[in-house]
Amino acid sequence: MDKTHLVDEITGHRRMRRNRKADWTRRMVQENRLTVDDLIWPIFIVPGTGIVDPIAAMPGVSRMSVDKAVEAVKQAADLGIPAIATFPDIEMNLRDETGSQSLVADNLINKATAAIKKAVPNIGIITDVALDPFTSHGHDGILREGVIVNDETVDQVVRAAVMQADAGADIIAPSEMMDGRIGAIRRGLDASGHQDVGIMSYATKFSSGFYGPYRDAINTSGLLKGDKNSYYISPANGTEALRDAALDVEEGADMLMVKPGLAYLDICWRIKEAFGLPTYAYQVSGEYTQIKAAAMNGWIDGERIMMETLLCFKRAGCDGILTYFAIEAAKKLAKS
Ligand code: PBG
Repeated sequence: MDKTHLVDEITGHRRMRRNRKADWTRRMVQENRLTVDDLIWPIFIVPGTGIVDPIAAMPGVSRMSVDKAVEAVKQAADLGIPAIATFPDIEMNLRDETGSQSLVADNLINKATAAIKKAVPNIGIITDVALDPFTSHGHDGILREGVIVNDETVDQVVRAAVMQADAGADIIAPSEMMDGRIGAIRRGLDASGHQDVGIMSYATKFSSGFYGPYRDAINTSGLLKGDKNSYYISPANGTEALRDAALDVEEGADMLMVKPGLAYLDICWRIKEAFGLPTYAYQVSGEYTQIKAAAMNGWIDGERIMMETLLCFKRAGCDGILTYFAIEAAKKLAKS
């Protein structure tokens, strides 16, 4: 029996494997590519000097004092990484009900920004304005009688954003999901002469279990009372996420972010399709840790899965990825 003939009858001479047959054909037909320009590196800052303190739940990630962070960011810039995102681990005695430390001009996060900007002027600095690193209850906003109050939080977030811009932040990334924050921050930045400071909205931030290791990293997990379901989006809701993002676009967001990443690739795609704005995914702490932990046990090829997941964000329409793998991935890209 002529088996070739049989298969051709089924395929009608269309054979997908022709384009996959050799390395050169595969390179010719490759639709998406990951480059170092796609990588944004989130880092954790602690007070003090000379500190590089490994985070147990995030193998390979450390909290760094400002001086060490400056060195690390220099390395990131040398690798070609375009931007970093900073998160502070604030001393416990400085945390309070309203997160008042967020309004101190030379607080830890602003000190880090100023130092990094001075030492490494050619890397972008993205700062978050959510209040969770600063509050004694670990919530992203001001807590009054069991409720995270929206408008009062927005007011504070705007003032914090202006201080962050004063310190040298290039992009403000509000992650606290209060209503109206993007427009309010835009007006606040414009009124204080920061027309060139951009806003990357954590447009669709889902209420997720994947944030666990991050909360250990900035020591909020023991503090958090209740959950964040009254302001983050339910993982069940895609259309609601799009409506939320639409408001951020209307209010003046320059860039949009989807968080977490891998379990929300449909949202990345829908957001990019709907608005066409630069769109980023945050491959969050729990996603990183899953890969690291399995790799450390020898159960998966961690490096391969790191590169695969990052590439898949590109396929899903993302223009870049906030990832704790940034340095590792950048080094790998430089070698290949
Ligand atoms: C809160 C915030 C979170 C992350 C960064 N800022 C989520 C949270 O703690 O609820 C998560 C980042 C990560 O998991 O890597 N504003």
